Amino acid sequence: MSELSDLTLSAERLIRGRHATRAFRPEAVPEDTMRALFSLAGAAPSNSNTQPWRVEVVSGAARERLADALRAAHAEQRTSVDFPYSEEMYGQVHQTRRAAFGAELYGALGIGHDDHRARAAYDAQSLGFYGAPHAAFLFVDGHGATRLAADVGAYMQTLLLAMTAYGVDSCPQGLLSFYADTVRAELGVTEGRLLVGISFGYADDTAPANRVTTGRAPLTSTTSFHA
Ligand SMILES: Cc1cc2nc3c(=O)[nH]c(=O)nc-3n(C[C@H](O)[C@H](O)[C@H](O)COP(=O)(O)O)c2cc1C
Repeated sequence: MSELSDLTLSAERLIRGRHATRAFRPEAVPEDTMRALFSLAGAAPSNSNTQPWRVEVVSGAARERLADALRAAHAEQRTSVDFPYSEEMYGQVHQTRRAAFGAELYGALGIGHDDHRARAAYDAQSLGFYGAPHAAFLFVDGHGATRLAADVGAYMQTLLLAMTAYGVDSCPQGLLSFYADTVRAELGVTEGRLLVGISFGYADDTAPANRVTTGRAPLTSTTSFHA
């Protein structure tokens, strides 16, 4: 390979430097940084430049109210999903990777494999955004057609990388999408379908949860080159 350009090296650092953060310090992200992050995320590509995302960001008192409402919904088992979920959507290889990730995460937290009670308690706790001062909720706009989730996924990754570039840590949380009606009611959202939530702020580097490392499948197991 020829010598790598500054842009290439920056991209390598940026993309490989992003990690899911699961314990945050309470400090808020400054307002001008907030605007920069979400403006940059809006540069994401989308089919015919339709930009079919709708983003709701909570901080301060709104964040507290939503966290309380999510915990109450969890306690009362009031789940509601806009995009159906089923364990069957994962093939064998995905199940294996999930199990390896789960072992890594719960191992770091000191929670045993069969300790379902502790795992459930951790889930409930994570509805408090892992202590992050902010959370962004990504809705697929309009009628929320499933196909448009690809565009919102592109937005999500652009947002996560923008955050990394600005020194802001994040965790995408599919778990938050299991409480779509609660999020909608709290934020007064009347349109769209909730795809995912993202907790963000600044990592607590002392927390064991943030010591989790994840590998990736080898290139050849996911990618074929045809010529
Ligand atoms: C769509 C999506 C949903 C996710 N949901 C959760 C979640 O509910 N809780 C969580 O702790 N991490 C969640 N994650 C983070 C993944 O576990 C994490 O990205 C993956 O293990 C790879 O680790 P890395 O992001 O540190 O590279 C989610 C990530 C994505 C992209």
